[in-house]
Amino acid sequence: MTAPEKTRLANLFDTIDDYLRDGYRSPRPEYSFTDDIIEDSAASLESVHEEKKAENSFVQIDTYSGDESGDSSLEKIADEIKRCTLCGLCEKRTQAVPGEGTLHPLVLVIGEGPGADEDRTGRPFVGKAGQLLDKMLASIGLYRGKNCFIANVVKCRPPNNRDPLPAETAACRAYLLRQITLLNPRVILSVGRIPTQILLNTADGITKLRGRFTEFMGIPFLPTFHPSALLRDENLKRPAWEDLKLLRQMLIEAVPEYAEE
Ligand code: URA
Repeated sequence: MTAPEKTRLANLFDTIDDYLRDGYRSPRPEYSFTDDIIEDSAASLESVHEEKKAENSFVQIDTYSGDESGDSSLEKIADEIKRCTLCGLCEKRTQAVPGEGTLHPLVLVIGEGPGADEDRTGRPFVGKAGQLLDKMLASIGLYRGKNCFIANVVKCRPPNNRDPLPAETAACRAYLLRQITLLNPRVILSVGRIPTQILLNTADGITKLRGRFTEFMGIPFLPTFHPSALLRDENLKRPAWEDLKLLRQMLIEAVPEYAEE
């Protein structure tokens, strides 16, 4: 059985499981039945990153850096994403959405996955939620293309904007880890429950997780609410602003260029 076939079968089992649980979906552990190469590369990337971090040196992953420059390797990942068939989401997508922004970001924003506007344009966070995200970032001097990169945990749109299934996030995981390794951001801002639960491997809700720094791959990691949640519930704007102030304070202390602007 090919890897996409295995993944589709996994999706089917997940859906059945979800129905048996009355629609409740707990985060599941990483699957071993997705493509072996992907899983191996994700695991080895995490360990290489840890080793390199210990050496305090630049992270270079030889297995996929066909080019001399890290920047063009990022393009290579984007090309792979655009052609990816590792999970069933490829069947319904118009375009995959690899992510966009500056190649040396202060902040990497990680969202859940493309919606209809993103699927149509191939760009992340371009709908209403994206416009609010841009405003939130601008309020603390952050802009995609200048000092941010915007990505998602899944790169193809889940049908009807449903939550991505564990097999889908598992299939996409290595792409995100490779992007993080190359971008090497000073901070990761995780927007919403889904990316935060997946990356921190927890079932805790976003209300509990937001507003506190932890680490992911050795990088300071701050969860906050998803901008679409703020569009639905005005009351979340204040705590989201508190999170942005925390991020700004951290950048002021850690990054002299940011403080000078
Ligand atoms: N919501 C997300 O989480 N990501 C996008 O790219 C757009 C909307």
